[in-house]
Amino acid sequence: MIAKSSPQYKLPSDFIWGFATASFQIEGSTDVGGRGKSIWDDFSRTPGKTMDGRNGDVATDSYNRWREDIDLLVSYGVKSYRFSLSWSRIIPLGGRDDPVNEEGIKFYSDFIDGLLEKGITPFVTLYHWDLPQALHDRYLGWLNKDEIVQDYTRYARVCFERFGDRVKHWLTMNEPWCISVLGYGRGVFAPGRSSDRMRSTEGDSSTEPWIVGHSVILSHAYAVKAYREEFKEKQGGQIGITLNGDWAMPYDDSPENIEAAQHALDVAIGWFADPVYLGSYPAYMKEMLGDRLPAFTDEELKVVSGSSDFYGMNTYTTNLCKAGGDDEFQGKTEYTFTRPDGTQLGTQAHCAWLQDYPQGFRDLLNYLYNRYKLPIYVTENGFAVKDENAMPLEQALHDEPRVQYYRGVTQSLISAVVEDGVDVRAYFGWSLLDNFEWADGYVTRFGLTYVDYETQKRYPKDSAKFVSKWFKEHILSEEEVPPTTTEVAPKPVAVKKTAQTNGVSKRQSVSKGANGKTVQKKKSPIARVTAYISTFLGL
Ligand code: BGC
Repeated sequence: MIAKSSPQYKLPSDFIWGFATASFQIEGSTDVGGRGKSIWDDFSRTPGKTMDGRNGDVATDSYNRWREDIDLLVSYGVKSYRFSLSWSRIIPLGGRDDPVNEEGIKFYSDFIDGLLEKGITPFVTLYHWDLPQALHDRYLGWLNKDEIVQDYTRYARVCFERFGDRVKHWLTMNEPWCISVLGYGRGVFAPGRSSDRMRSTEGDSSTEPWIVGHSVILSHAYAVKAYREEFKEKQGGQIGITLNGDWAMPYDDSPENIEAAQHALDVAIGWFADPVYLGSYPAYMKEMLGDRLPAFTDEELKVVSGSSDFYGMNTYTTNLCKAGGDDEFQGKTEYTFTRPDGTQLGTQAHCAWLQDYPQGFRDLLNYLYNRYKLPIYVTENGFAVKDENAMPLEQALHDEPRVQYYRGVTQSLISAVVEDGVDVRAYFGWSLLDNFEWADGYVTRFGLTYVDYETQKRYPKDSAKFVSKWFKEHILSEEEVPPTTTEVAPKPVAVKKTAQTNGVSKRQSVSKGANGKTVQKKKSPIARVTAYISTFLGL
């Protein structure tokens, strides 16, 4: 194994790192440049929908300040920037027969050129939650599979045609679980549909999220099909989906809680990852939902199965899982951060759902690599410091709990790559800027850069300095990659055999996985060798 003190204990030289954002969270200028409304426009303007009553009309004003944002990225020395395109800026009414807005195309085209001029690789998300309002009004958006799949595929095709000469990294969808559950189940995100009549006059939380999830998977898959058949050969890019999913750790070593952790993973991740990478919905979801879970036709399944070139991973925290409760969106498990002995899992963030637990990040990487066997791109990961919004600027800039968070995950990242042999190819911190944090409005700050919303001035926080320095120091430089005299070995695939289908944390004392099999606690020697070769060759 490569010793931590060795100069070779590093990420491969082609490792991609940077920061991420999303169109509606930063652009503002919602009625400028021919943009049509998205479902977040009016939703965020509706009293009671955001915590501070503020909306996305201005956000971080990045539609106007994009050059400044690029300068900021340059100052951090990033290799890449992940951002999303606003569908309704490109096709204001969204549909397959609706006109393309050349002003919107020009905006993104200039932006992409601006990044490339500075040597920054664009990593582009096609859909980060801002569905054109017109499609919701026309046919209820994601609830209408037949319409939305065609409209989304056409939107994707326009993006490939207009930007694909320069964009080589595409993400079709950001976090389908959030789109489905938060938008159509819990009703806290646009379009805000829910069975809870205090929240919404429309919606059925027992059926709609599963229908929406199905449409999202198919839209993703048909867009990938279009890319692979019509663009990939010429443009040479990669395309995949990015899923949210936090690590699930059994509350204790009782069999029902070990099983509960796996059920949590099945719904949080397997709902989308299993069809895309393994070709079917998880058995547990089929059992839990019966005919409320839509079925794929054989023809659809052929398109869905294998429809992502990599595993796109967004993750923030770890949940301790206890069997019980009736929350289907959590696989009928209860989440807590309080251990059986009463201690907390980690440092509490501003939002209730997030605590800092870096070991969970490493365990999740191992779980995903073992189960889905594809290279992993970490496309989001970050922390919101408690009460940061109430702090004076100087204090907010010294964001020690966020620095601590990134110190932990970067250590977990490098351990997973070098020691466990997990093939991770990219890491993006969330977020480049404090921004419009959806239903939280602007009170929850995830930025590594502070934004003063009065002046829109940007100030780097200590965390931005930490992350930039860390990646500069922990990626092999070309000079450090030793020359090879033999043939280059093929890239290793998943080699480490651990708790493949269970939710057991490696560091736990329990010895049985959810499937009743003994959990392997030590790394396989092959994993170490391949990890070593991989790092050594800079692959
Ligand atoms: C989303 C981001 C969001 C972040 C923090 C992710 O789920 O993709 O848009 O700001 O979490 O809540």
